[in-house]
Amino acid sequence: MSHRSTVILGTGSYAPKRVLTNEDLSRMVDTSDEWIRARSGIRERRIAAAEEATSDLAFHAAQRALKDAGVAASEIDLVVVATVTPDYPMPSTACILQHKLGIPTTAACFDLNAACSGFIYGLDTACALLASGRYKKALLIGAEKLSCIVDWSDRGTCLLFGDGAGAAVIGVSDRPGVGLIGTRLGALGEDTDLLLVPGGGSRAPATADSFKKGDHFIKMKGKEVFKLAVRVMEEAARDILEQHHLDAHQIGLVIPHQANLRIIDAIAKYLELPIERFFVNVDRYGNTSSASIPIALDEARQAGRIRRGDVTLLVAFGAGLTYGSALIRW
Ligand SMILES: CC(C)(COP(=O)(O)OP(=O)(O)OC[C@H]1O[C@@H](n2cnc3c(N)ncnc32)[C@H](O)[C@@H]1OP(=O)(O)O)[C@@H](O)C(=O)NCCC(=O)NCCS
Repeated sequence: MSHRSTVILGTGSYAPKRVLTNEDLSRMVDTSDEWIRARSGIRERRIAAAEEATSDLAFHAAQRALKDAGVAASEIDLVVVATVTPDYPMPSTACILQHKLGIPTTAACFDLNAACSGFIYGLDTACALLASGRYKKALLIGAEKLSCIVDWSDRGTCLLFGDGAGAAVIGVSDRPGVGLIGTRLGALGEDTDLLLVPGGGSRAPATADSFKKGDHFIKMKGKEVFKLAVRVMEEAARDILEQHHLDAHQIGLVIPHQANLRIIDAIAKYLELPIERFFVNVDRYGNTSSASIPIALDEARQAGRIRRGDVTLLVAFGAGLTYGSALIRW
């Protein structure tokens, strides 16, 4: 078999129009713009319209990625949607999106839940399936409407999250040395209770009472998540660099999960890289979970911050607690 590199052929992103500023939040809960900026680096986030579901956000991002790649929907044979806020518990958002985009019925379509690490988990999955030779072109999307699972009366969580979508079209190249160099995925399953939506699943199906208690909203132990996030992102970054005999200084751009500027700062210090080497847009979008990295990736490409030959490091963590890193050469 000839060498198969898996390469990102195009990217796209979409953020809903409505902007919710820290000022706006301070009229909803007891907080302030100053506190939110100091503790998280976030200034504003986007909120989807009531009639906009995750597949609608995904649709716009996917269309832009297909256009950027110069690939027709008819060429896609694999659709992976990373999300924790699917349109419905079933069927998958990937099937809904397939139909919206006019992707052939012979394409495999499924959702993947790795929370905020979803795009990196999806990248690993899609690239492995492409490298197997069984698929030719994949559409990978991270899309979230987190605003519908955020408790807007909980000041400890509502400041962090927002809505959005990012997409990548991935294909195969016989040019060696480009594309996905490697990934490093993992999960700390013992820490599921630090960040979860307790109600609405098979453990505690939704009832009128659970709804009243707000069990369908995100519950988070912010301080504990913060500490673990820094630890696992450092490990994931260090391991993948070591595995591929790369020094942090050889990385052109780091695209971290956009959860909190202080977490990104901590990773920068650990890798001994200036913060300028990191792509940061958490100030404008907050944490959009699985959409966070692909939105940042698309904006970084558009801003000319990724050049041919560059190596990019993606690194994320999320509920699970999942974590992951990936190295890409362009
Ligand atoms: C949520 C987060 C910003 C809170 O920051 P923190 O520095 O840990 O703050 P704490 O939770 O310790 O709270 C400190 C104080 O501020 C208060 N506070 C919490 N939220 C507040 C808000 N929005 N506005 C004002 N005060 C707030 C707390 O009540 C607490 O007061 P106390 O000391 O009187 O009890 C931070 O923990 C965080 O970002 N964690 C990681 C979360 C994350 O990334 N989740 C997504 C994973 S993918």
